[in-house]
Amino acid sequence: MNLEVISQPLASIDADLLVVGIAQDGNLSPEAQTLNSEWSGLLDRVKAEGGFKGKAYELDWLYPTPGKARRALLLGTGKTSAYDVRTARRLAAIAVRQARNKRASRVAIALPAAGSVSIEQVVQAIADGAITGLADSDLYKDQDNKGEIENLQVVVAEGGEAASAALERGRKIAAAVNFGRWLGDEPANIMTPVRAAEEARRWASECGIECQVLGEEELREAGMGSLLSVADGSKYPPQVVVLTYNGGGGPTLGLVGKGVTFDTGGISIKPAADMHYMKYDMCGAAAVISAIGGIAQIGLKANVIAIAGMVENMPSGTATRPGDVVRAANGKTIEIINTDAEGRLVLADALDLARKRGAERLVDVATLTGAIKVALGDVATGAMGNNEEWTSQVLAAAKATGEALWPMPLYPEYTDKLKSNIADMMNTGGRFGGALTAGAFLQQFVGDTPWVHLDVAGTAYTEKDHSWQMKGATGAMIRTLIELARSNAE
Ligand code: BES
Ligand code: MN
Ligand code: ZN
Repeated sequence: MNLEVISQPLASIDADLLVVGIAQDGNLSPEAQTLNSEWSGLLDRVKAEGGFKGKAYELDWLYPTPGKARRALLLGTGKTSAYDVRTARRLAAIAVRQARNKRASRVAIALPAAGSVSIEQVVQAIADGAITGLADSDLYKDQDNKGEIENLQVVVAEGGEAASAALERGRKIAAAVNFGRWLGDEPANIMTPVRAAEEARRWASECGIECQVLGEEELREAGMGSLLSVADGSKYPPQVVVLTYNGGGGPTLGLVGKGVTFDTGGISIKPAADMHYMKYDMCGAAAVISAIGGIAQIGLKANVIAIAGMVENMPSGTATRPGDVVRAANGKTIEIINTDAEGRLVLADALDLARKRGAERLVDVATLTGAIKVALGDVATGAMGNNEEWTSQVLAAAKATGEALWPMPLYPEYTDKLKSNIADMMNTGGRFGGALTAGAFLQQFVGDTPWVHLDVAGTAYTEKDHSWQMKGATGAMIRTLIELARSNAE
């Protein structure tokens, strides 16, 4: 799909499909107003007589049109006070998916730069939304009859260099998001720890960043008994991927991801229902690998290290047992009460490695607990941290990208629940506050480095189709991490 920014009256655009955003409140955007008068008040009539209200994601077709475009699609942008970059992204995704269905190949789209959304932001959001919108999770189905969009014109009142730069940024962010989603969507028999490390290496060279992969022997030498214990039941060896980007500027940002390529629960085995979703248990790792690549491709002035702990959690005769005690790389001992609380065991050693490799600010991303899903559903990611300023900065980055992120507490009482009879700590903290005792566990491995934990168990994948995206991996927090690297360099 070719993408370009154009500044041209909508009525004069010759396309298979012209997409026009229309708000629920207020007037038509200046571009839509001109179109409306060229089309003898047709847009007004659709609103007055056709029942089209302009509610967010509402759509209505005009076919044929009175003008040059063969077909037009009116897209509701909702109330202006609620309109943001996420709305624009989703609308662009809806537009291209609809266009593809109708076999429209030359498409033009005009969404308002209104409310909190600037022209540059809307251009970036459209590029991002269009590219991520076309990526599907039906990887092993015939793709031949899906249709293809040859050209997408992003129509703005004033183009110029800033708009073109925004288009490029959107394109690169989308490529990173799609890469992360693909890693998640691939099934666990394909995306094993070794394959994931190979894909990370390929991606790193594409993005011009350094890649090191630590194998089982090296992990043992580094004393990572916690991470290694998770892999004990699997026939696949564990891999730790270390990606480095030195763009200069700001404290070194360490991004750490949980990469459990499949989580059966181990000996504390999970019920069969919904277990297939546990191929998504590596979406945290996918997010940090993708984000550092996006950061490098955009060329942000930041120093970033990404660490992905790739393991498979299986039950077998060689698997870890409940009651086993392991020693983490920072010297602390852990009594494994439940082998299904494996993500924190992986992150413990990965977080410690990030610090040893020079990270001065930490963010981890992990599909860590069912409890966060109970609390926040599939809507928001949960954030926990040990430093208010750093947590605020991460929350602000999420807000700027339109990703839902909500703060959760880490009171010392949660740490108390991890007390063990035999070791420094247990890997579970009882029945209640499961997302928070998990966070408190991770806190034992970050020392005094400012750190934020992002629990994406509810947001990393969707179980339902949306008009803007097929069910599957979402790429949650990739955009936020890229934005964080940008803001951290300031
Ligand atoms: N990978 C799961 C968490 C998860 C649940 C992710 C649902 C996505 C959707 C994690 O490893 C896990 O099993 N956590 C346990 C922890 C418990 C044993 C303390 C949980 O949440 O039940
Ligand atoms: Mn688990
Ligand atoms: Zn897990």
